[in-house]
Parts: sequence; C-alpha cells; structure tokens
Amino acid sequence: MARILATDGLDSECVKILQEKGHHVDLIHFERDELLRGAISGYDVIIIRSATKIDSEVLAANISPESHIHLIIRAGVGLDNIDLKKASELGVLVKNTPTASTMAVVEFTIGHLLAGVRNISRADREMRSTIWAKKSSTGTELSGKNLGLVGYGRISRGVAIVAKALGMSVHVFDPFLKDDPTKNSDVVKHDSVESLFSSCTHISIHCALTESTRGMVNYDLIQLMPEISPDGIVCGRHIVNCARGGILDEADAHKMLKSGHIRSLGLDVFENEPEGNPELSSHPNVISTPHIGAATSESQKRIGMEIVNLILSEFES
Ligand code: MLT
Repeated sequence: MARILATDGLDSECVKILQEKGHHVDLIHFERDELLRGAISGYDVIIIRSATKIDSEVLAANISPESHIHLIIRAGVGLDNIDLKKASELGVLVKNTPTASTMAVVEFTIGHLLAGVRNISRADREMRSTIWAKKSSTGTELSGKNLGLVGYGRISRGVAIVAKALGMSVHVFDPFLKDDPTKNSDVVKHDSVESLFSSCTHISIHCALTESTRGMVNYDLIQLMPEISPDGIVCGRHIVNCARGGILDEADAHKMLKSGHIRSLGLDVFENEPEGNPELSSHPNVISTPHIGAATSESQKRIGMEIVNLILSEFES
C-alpha cells in the first residue's frame, strides 16, 4: 500500500480507484511554510499541479533516512516547479502526464487568439456597462495571417492544425526539434526566434520556462513583429501565452500595449501566480485567465487516469 498525497486536487473517480486498490489517499493543500516543516515527509507519492513548488529546500525538509518520498507526479506537462536535479540526487522519481491536456490547451489557445483579434472580451465588458460598441469593435480575421509558434511540441502542433484549418500560415521556431516534423509539411521552420518574430503578426508561446527562455519574449523581440499581414491588412500584433509565466516580459509587454505596438495580448499564465498582474490585466486589450488552459473535465479525467496508471505500475508490479 502506498501513502499518496494530492496537494492540488485529484479527480474523484481516480481517488476511488486508488483507494479500492488499497492505497491511502489524502487531498490536502500545504502552504510553503508547512512544506518546509516536513508536512509531506510521511508520503510515498506526492501529486502536485502548478500551485505547489517542490524546490530543493522543500525536498531537503521532507527526505530523511526514516521517511522517503518515492515518487513525485506533476499532474500536467510543465516540470518547472520541481527541482529535478535535487530530486534525482535524492533518489526521488519525478513523472508528469505529458499528453493528457493537449487538446484542452490547443482549444484554449485558439480561443485566446480569436478573443484577441475579435475584441470578444472587451465587447462583452462594454455590453455589461450597456455600451453598444459596434463601430469600435471591428476586428481582423485569423485567416490569411502568419502565426508564429515558439516551440513545436504536442500542443503547438495541435494549434498548427487548427490554425491551418482557419487559413493561417504557420511558422515555427524550436531549437530542440529531433525528428523535424516540419519536413514535407507546409509549416515554415525558422532558425532563430528573431526570424520567427520578424515574419509573424501573431505569436503563440509553447515552450518550457527555462533559464534560457525566461524573459525571452521582450521588447527587442516584439518590436521585430510586422503589423501588416501577407494579405495586406493592418491587423496589428497579437501575442498569446498559454505556456508559462515568465517567458513573456510583462513589463515590456505592458509598455508596448500602452504605446499601441501590441494590439492584443492573451495571457493564461503569469510571472507570479496566483497573484497575476492586475495592472496589466486591466488594459482593455488584454484577455487574461487564471492558468486554466488545461482545466477541462475531459483533461482532468485523463490526467487522473494517467496518474493512476503511473502509481499502479510503480507499486503493483
Ligand atoms: C501544465 O503544465 O500541464 C499546466 O500548466 C497544468 C496546470 O494547470 O497547472
């Protein structure tokens, strides 16, 4: 029997399956000070989402010769809230659920792109204030525009498929591509992120947050973006980040929104979560959401089932 702790929730059906298999499951969220006092040291498996950070201090505070966390599971894709090096040094296994939320984030990214170019959020806010802003709400179409994807993993490839169906030309930059999925496809591959930004009026971020991508999408890069699309429309510049906070420099983006250089900014992730960036979010051309790209019933069920399978294969084989 494994003692399992889910700090940021777990699908109830999955809790039931694990309990029926004889495992003990607790659903308790611990704050950082509690984590540093060893609150999770008695568990074999820790399941976290983005709200819990397992850094080297937390690991050190919870691992001793008497009690040993065996497995940490990140319910989701990004592993940036776990100190992987320290975990490996301490012999703790770390796993994630890389495929379960792909479609949820793909659809959400397209939603953000559409909301940005068609002023959906702003028009909705104005309707609530009884403002019928028909004239000032003219948008532009995604069709005929160049979409630049930063990173070309599973989610990004899904976005590319939908974007192409909408009539966009897809451009990508990903220095880590192994099998070159752009070969023999109509996706344009760029050798530098600068070249990608120089070619696209619309950008969607899909890379991991690492030391080299932190603050990467900043003034210097954004100012390279054209505002006229290949179909000759002055569509302005549009950026969406449903990947990780910190990749986009929020201060630079805010300045460029205020100057009109960025037409719309869709943000699901922030440098500081759960605080967000209320000042930036209050700009009329920002659409902000509280890191809910992966939050669909379907994806939570799939994530839960992947977690169940990971635990069962670890403890029952
Ligand atoms: C992910 O990395 O899969 C997501 O950011 C998960 C989440 O919503 O926390």
